[in-house]
Amino acid sequence: MNTSDHAPSLTAYESIIARRTAHAYRDLPVDHRSMERALHAANHAPSHKLTFPWRFIRVGPQGRAATAQLAVRIKAEQRPLSEADAKRVHDKTMAPPELVVACQIRNADPFRSREDYAACCCAIQNFFVSLAGEGISGKWSTGGITRDLRMYGLLGLDPGAFEVIGFLWAGVADPPAPIARPPLDAVVRSVP
Ligand SMILES: Cc1cc2nc3c(=O)[nH]c(=O)nc-3n(C[C@H](O)[C@H](O)[C@H](O)COP(=O)(O)O)c2cc1C
Repeated sequence: MNTSDHAPSLTAYESIIARRTAHAYRDLPVDHRSMERALHAANHAPSHKLTFPWRFIRVGPQGRAATAQLAVRIKAEQRPLSEADAKRVHDKTMAPPELVVACQIRNADPFRSREDYAACCCAIQNFFVSLAGEGISGKWSTGGITRDLRMYGLLGLDPGAFEVIGFLWAGVADPPAPIARPPLDAVVRSVP
């Protein structure tokens, strides 16, 4: 992977602020180099004891179609779906041009597992901040499909060895509406 051929146009701080969760994507592809840089950035996350506990699965067109079918099936198991509902779920799943499944290597030790999850979260944030620095939006989702064993089957993933911790969607999107964040003095205090 050659990552030296591009410098993001935003500073790290600007990229962090630019990163937002997008729900509606335009019908535009993401440059494969942007995806490679984002995955490279993810792989540069810190991990205690150098466990490197993250694994990423890039889902291609066949997998996307199967994922969309499964998403519809899961919804239909929860409530009766009209044809229009089914199409909406299907199209929503197919809309972002990129889907990366983020997985964590399981560890029987609860403390190690917690530390590894923290490391995976750092990796996922790196992934999205890298994309944001290039004007690409995304969404981390943890809906029921991410925990469904049929999804593991579809990905060829051993649920005893790995846990899916999120679907990482990416694509070009209009900026979402601003959200109110707590003021800094509500989340930071100083002690002398
Ligand atoms: C662990 C985690 C899981 C999330 N799961 C979902 C999800 O399943 N569906 C969704 O629409 N957004 C999901 N989000 C995105 C959050 O809803 C979003 O980050 C939040 O609304 C703040 O918006 P922002 O990302 O634009 O700052 C998730 C975020 C995190 C950190």
